[in-house]
Amino acid sequence: MRWKPALLPLGAALAAVPFLSSVASEPIQNAHRSASTDQSQRWVSAKFQGVSSCAAASCHGGVGPPGVDGCELTTWAVADKHANAYRVLFSERSQVMLWNYRHLDSIAQARPHRDTECLNCHSLAPPAELRGNAPRQPQLADGVGCENCHGPAEHWLTVHYLNDWKQLDPRAKERYGMLPTKDLAARISQCATCHVGREGQEVNHDLIAAGHPRLRFEYTVYQRNMPPHWREKAYGPDFEVRAWAIGQVASARAAVELLRSRAERALKDRAPWPELSEYSCYSCHHNLRPQGPRPANGRPGSLVWSTWYTPLLESLAAASAPLTASGQVPSTAALKELRKLLTDHPGAGLTEVRTKAQAAARELGSWLDDLQEGAYRDSFTKPLAASRVKELARTMLATPADREWDGATQRYLALKALLPDRRDFRDPMLRLRGELRFAPGYDSPHSFSPAAYADELRQLREALESSGERP
Ligand code: HEC
Ligand code: HEC
Ligand code: HEC
Ligand code: HEC
Repeated sequence: MRWKPALLPLGAALAAVPFLSSVASEPIQNAHRSASTDQSQRWVSAKFQGVSSCAAASCHGGVGPPGVDGCELTTWAVADKHANAYRVLFSERSQVMLWNYRHLDSIAQARPHRDTECLNCHSLAPPAELRGNAPRQPQLADGVGCENCHGPAEHWLTVHYLNDWKQLDPRAKERYGMLPTKDLAARISQCATCHVGREGQEVNHDLIAAGHPRLRFEYTVYQRNMPPHWREKAYGPDFEVRAWAIGQVASARAAVELLRSRAERALKDRAPWPELSEYSCYSCHHNLRPQGPRPANGRPGSLVWSTWYTPLLESLAAASAPLTASGQVPSTAALKELRKLLTDHPGAGLTEVRTKAQAAARELGSWLDDLQEGAYRDSFTKPLAASRVKELARTMLATPADREWDGATQRYLALKALLPDRRDFRDPMLRLRGELRFAPGYDSPHSFSPAAYADELRQLREALESSGERP
């Protein structure tokens, strides 16, 4: 996909909207981060206009099947869970959760639909100065709406359907507040603000213990489960593979950045430490059986850091050169150091955790940029050859067996993205998934067997090797 470089073509359209031309020439203050900068900024200084501003039948409120231009709002309202995200705050589950979390005297005092922490992720509740003027205002009842993902519309609402606008480079659009959702790194980082969390907006162990579901984001699954109101136009046939790899790195970057902010806040005594949700849940919550599965690092009695977001990254790094623009093997040295610090020394000093997390976030950030550049440059014109994808799948199958359910599940999801949906893989994949199922009546994988899982992996590996050159 090619965009014309920034700004120049907008001329006439801009002239019609007085302040746009000045905005165009300099970045909006606090501009929403682009894929390469840090995650911590919350708002651009542009006002949110609310879902109803997009709703006209001639704009996005047309009636038609998902993915058809003009019917985005209908798809969202009818089928997308985001439209329901505010309503769940009225449920009994939410009330009990807040009652526990805030140590309230009675359930009657719990009003999750008024609690900013809940609203941060379950709705669009910007501070007063970033709310548009009536009638163009966000409503809490809209839940997670258009501008949560596409950015505040004040500066682009009235021009974004013009031809000149459509020619603009995504980075130029970003200066008006529109997030570059075609950029997978930026898109997934935006999902991650709620699905992984970020500074001041997180699901920590206190909230989990109060009843919130544990967040466990993996992009390809969430993308499949979200009814698409678009067609992917910027990528070629290797979309799924690239989205998986970029999703791995973007989610890990968000998780490490969140860890940095947790350490930062704990230093000021404003956050619990150690933050238990950083560690393998099953380090602490498991059946104490002498023959039970050992922790991921093989040492009974130790806490294992980051079992969901980072277990595959080192193997991905070793095999990811063909996906990048530079063709280089990315460094994971800072990530390794961080893992070592937190796993071997759970009581490590906060300043050291902060510094090492910052370094790891930076390292992941440059890898992410390189992957995204590679995707833009090659996905259409030179999509990954089948042999390359097979090589990646082989890497994911070659790594030693996972001892933890988290890593095993991430590996299954990786294979789901990498292996074609073909008969010879279908049965072994179904059996692999079977190994990950929770036993009836349990909400944790207490019966997960690393040995049985490894056995299924081996069979899948054999299927891959006997599948010839056409993977
Ligand atoms: C960091 C963002 C974040 C915060 C803060 C947050 N949530 Fe959530 N919540 C989510 C996400 C994301 C999901 C969906 C989880 C999934 O399915 O992966 C969710 C799911 C839920 C669910 C389950 C919904 C369902 O359809 O099953 C409830 C209930 C809920 N949240 C209530 C709350 C309440 C009450 C608060 C405040 C005390 C809160 N949440 C704070 C992000 C957040
Ligand atoms: C949970 C995040 C999310 C929400 C909520 C959301 N979108 Fe999207 N939207 C996306 C993603 C991701 C894409 C695909 C990337 C792209 O094409 O820009 C997309 C694509 C689109 C496109 C196609 C853009 C193109 O160039 O083809 C339109 C139009 C759109 N969204 C409008 C809306 C409207 C209107 C709403 C509110 C009713 C909405 N979106 C809500 C994430 C979201
Ligand atoms: C502003 C916060 C926010 C952003 C940004 C966001 N989500 Fe969500 N998402 C939520 C919340 C909250 C829920 C839970 C809603 C519910 O269950 O009622 C949710 C639910 C979902 C679900 C349904 C999960 C389930 O259990 O069925 C999917 C799928 C999903 N999101 C995908 C995405 C994707 C993909 C993106 C990025 C393109 C994204 N989300 C961006 C907050 C967000
Ligand atoms: C370092 C140990 C440790 C880790 C790691 C840990 N927890 Fe906990 N968790 C505890 C303790 C201690 C309690 C409070 C005692 C209790 O209720 O069992 C608790 C309580 C809970 C509760 C409430 C249980 C109840 O019966 O009220 C839930 C749910 C929970 N944890 C889930 C998780 C999840 C999910 C993870 C991983 C993201 C996790 N925990 C990681 C130690 C841990």
